[in-house]
Amino acid sequence: MLEQKINDIKKQVAQAISKIKNSQELFDLEKRFLGRKSEFTDILKGLKDLSQEDRKKIGELANRTKNEIAGIILSKKQELSGAVDLGKEKIDVTLPGYRKGIGHLNPITTVQNEIMDIFTSMGFEVADGPEVETEFYNFDALNIPADHPARDMQDTFWLKQKSGEEGLVLRTHTSNVQIRYMSAHKPPFRIIAPGKTFRHEATDAKHEHTFYQFEALVVDKNISVANFKFIAKTFFEKFFGRELNIRLRPSFFPFTEPSFEFDISCAICGGKGCSTCGHSGWLEIGGAGMVNQKVFEAVGYKRNEYQGFAWGFGIPRLAMLKYKIDDNRHFHSGDLRFVKQF
Ligand code: PHE
Repeated sequence: MLEQKINDIKKQVAQAISKIKNSQELFDLEKRFLGRKSEFTDILKGLKDLSQEDRKKIGELANRTKNEIAGIILSKKQELSGAVDLGKEKIDVTLPGYRKGIGHLNPITTVQNEIMDIFTSMGFEVADGPEVETEFYNFDALNIPADHPARDMQDTFWLKQKSGEEGLVLRTHTSNVQIRYMSAHKPPFRIIAPGKTFRHEATDAKHEHTFYQFEALVVDKNISVANFKFIAKTFFEKFFGRELNIRLRPSFFPFTEPSFEFDISCAICGGKGCSTCGHSGWLEIGGAGMVNQKVFEAVGYKRNEYQGFAWGFGIPRLAMLKYKIDDNRHFHSGDLRFVKQF
């Protein structure tokens, strides 16, 4: 009897559902068949009065049927709300697709790659070193002892260390690679070391706390300043694609002796004078010098056995000159409108 009733209800639902046209009708239907006052709910409520055997049998059937009805109602609900039926979905393959936003190399990376290309074509090897560096490699071995005023030229970020442990810094220049490379190799060699460097600087249009540098080091028995000038001139002429001159001005670096700052004739106006070179005809580029014999001693070479030159400068400066970028801070802005121009 009860079983018959339950199966009847299911049949009625199946019939009624095909006529449902909107969610209000569906709501009414659900209320009529499964609601609190429905026949079905009465059956479920009455289960407790049945014999144990019937309760089990009818209970099972009633619950199964209730789930089936709920399922029928749910799929009608989805149909009405326009949910996609994968079986019936159509794809218009002629519609234009969505364009994926692809990334772009930062001009610093482009310039760094270009620098590496030019130098490797001149027989240089690319060397690498850590960005978190010990005090020894970043300072002491480069003839910058703890109490020397030259330390103040490069204020940096120190890592917290326990007392007694060797100091760790975020490297202030790529000159640490000179020491690491020389400790592991015997001359002759010529290397470049591009990479990220850090300084405790207030940022402005020309300064960043995190920037990219590039270092060159050539060591052999009779390397001289003339070799430096030639390599520098060759490199900058290739990089800017025009003839230019190199000018040296006396300077000081603890790890080179003699030391100089070097300029190139303005790559924009060719030396005539323009706003980029401040009408001087020259562009300041970086520091250089002959490797101090004390540095050779620090890596275990005999004094006066070798000679070499080293130079270093900031990569952003070259990128700014090449692409006429007016503010250093653009490089790290993360603004795609900026990087996509190059
Ligand atoms: N390490 C120096 C700096 O960052 C640059 C430099 C490199 C100077 C090599 C001379 C020789 O200021």
